[in-house]
Amino acid sequence: MRTHYCGELNKSHEHKEVILCGWAHRRRDHGGVIFIDLRDSEGLAQIVIDPDTPDAFKIAETIRNEFVLKVTCKVRLRPEGTINLNLPSGEIEMLASKVEILNESLTPPFMLDDETVSEAVRLEYRFIDLRRDVMQKNLRLRNNTSKSVRNFLDKEGFIELETPILNRSTPEGARDYLVPSRVHHGEFFALPQSPQLFKQILMVSGFDRYYQIAKCFRDEDLRADRQPEFTQIDIEASFIDEESIIEISENMIRQTYSEVLNINLPTSFPKLSYKESMSRYGSDKPDLRVTLELTEMTEEMKNVDFKVFSSAANMENGRVAALRVPGGSDLSRSEIDAYTEFVKIYGAKGLAYIKVKDKTQLNEEGLQSPIVKNINTKALEAIINKTDSENGDLIFFGADKAKIVNEAMGALRVKIGHEKKHLNDVEWAPLWVVDFPMFDYDETSKTWNALHHPFTAPQDGHEKYLDSDPGKCLSKAYDMVINGWEMGGGSIRIHKSDLQSKVFKALGISEQEAKDKFGFLLDALKYGAPPHGGVAFGLDRIVTLLAGSDSIRDVIAFPKTQKAQCLMTQSPNRVDEKQLQELHIRVRPSSSEQKND
Ligand code: AMO
Ligand code: AMP
Repeated sequence: MRTHYCGELNKSHEHKEVILCGWAHRRRDHGGVIFIDLRDSEGLAQIVIDPDTPDAFKIAETIRNEFVLKVTCKVRLRPEGTINLNLPSGEIEMLASKVEILNESLTPPFMLDDETVSEAVRLEYRFIDLRRDVMQKNLRLRNNTSKSVRNFLDKEGFIELETPILNRSTPEGARDYLVPSRVHHGEFFALPQSPQLFKQILMVSGFDRYYQIAKCFRDEDLRADRQPEFTQIDIEASFIDEESIIEISENMIRQTYSEVLNINLPTSFPKLSYKESMSRYGSDKPDLRVTLELTEMTEEMKNVDFKVFSSAANMENGRVAALRVPGGSDLSRSEIDAYTEFVKIYGAKGLAYIKVKDKTQLNEEGLQSPIVKNINTKALEAIINKTDSENGDLIFFGADKAKIVNEAMGALRVKIGHEKKHLNDVEWAPLWVVDFPMFDYDETSKTWNALHHPFTAPQDGHEKYLDSDPGKCLSKAYDMVINGWEMGGGSIRIHKSDLQSKVFKALGISEQEAKDKFGFLLDALKYGAPPHGGVAFGLDRIVTLLAGSDSIRDVIAFPKTQKAQCLMTQSPNRVDEKQLQELHIRVRPSSSEQKND
């Protein structure tokens, strides 16, 4: 249909007769001459339609935005003064001899270059939204990223294998999406939260190195970096240790960044233990571009009169942490109030602070703060010394259960770091977080949960804590973090059936339940399972960071909203009664409908 793409034309095509196809991006009427910016997948070309070609001109007069056109034209240089060096085709224009309308368009609900349009409208009309330059670029970036990853893994001897979507549930910490079986009355498949157990079974079956760009499904609370349906670069290998998986993963990410966007990541990513990461950054995915750090103050606050601090310092799993903001003394009352409101999102009850005016005066003269009168000189001295504070600084404090302090002060650190520019001179700050605990204690259910997943191996020598002190047991798990985003995570797996049973037991899973749910895994581990381990990266997240976006919805062609809906297809939706009958399903009124009855 066409001879060239709009975006590929330049000065070298002068005098050439070309046929272009695309969309009318913009039409301008300039005193008798009509200009149309024609857009295709490769870019824009300026078409000039002169009244001297009356047939073409007549048609051009009826063209509106987003009409689909086929234009026969001749390339000529633009007159002096009309050259647009921002466009690859900005030095030329096409004089049309023939214009055909291949299809008309209704007036689009928004202009493609309108940056103010709401995301809801963009998602409803995604077919138009995806025509926008930024979305075209993002999805091409996605393609280049997965291509680069595939090439890398292929060269490293990994083979791509698919695993089932209709599954038995394998727990990864989220709720399952269920699919009812028509054939087996009352029984359900679960969509995979990840291919975890299948990839382990492939190792038992001798495939040595597997990968898959795999769709995963998790029914969980959604955020800017989470979708109910997302894509993992899923990797598993046999006869391998943490160091080797970490090296392969780093090489993969480094090569992809370099191939896709010419970005050079550091030659070796720093490693940080989970414990240190929580202590210094309040997070297991620290943004290391931010220079601010938390300072541990729990011990020093045990005996102060200020009850908020002393009671947190003395409670089980309590923490008092300080965040020094250099030069922060000039923060206004309203800025401090806004930060106080911010930490409340994370459950903090307040945000105490000290403005350091003169650190030689450890009293209300030198330290401006509502809490100083209730903190003794020794403790004030410890605060100033441990945080390395200087005159002109401000110190924020979080005091509560460690979980709340970490979440609130960790998020505050990142917020202030970016807002007040306490940043390192690096664009990319990758790292590994290692030495994760095996288990996390859930105060409400009073049970131990797997911090990664229940198939993660304990560190050598830590097996003994499984019965006696699960909280002390560290695992062979690792996470890759870039700029505060968890890009990927994995672990060395348990490859012996008896150890796997022990870990299930520590998690409160009975022998019968383990047999019912994971019998196939426990069996497989008994038939010569090799030592193995792996990792999975969030493809959507990798591309989001590369695209410089802050929402993974911008790099997914057809994402779901925060409420897990597709606004374009209007799913999820009700289905026919007949379909439900075949599945032996009756829909009960929702609890709110029941209440209204
Ligand atoms: P994990 O649950 O850490 O590990 O997931 C691996 C990576 O997948 C991405 N990710 C998500 N991306 C978008 N939306 C989501 N809802 C979402 N959930 C996770 C993250 C994360 O780092 N089977 C293990 C991996 C292994 O042990 O090999 C697993 O799934 O980038
Ligand atoms: P109050 O004793 O409630 O007047 O609080 C005195 C100061 O301590 C205020 O600046 C509060 O914001 C702060 N504050 C209260 N609770 C906490 C907490 N759990 N952690 C840190 N600061 C707090």
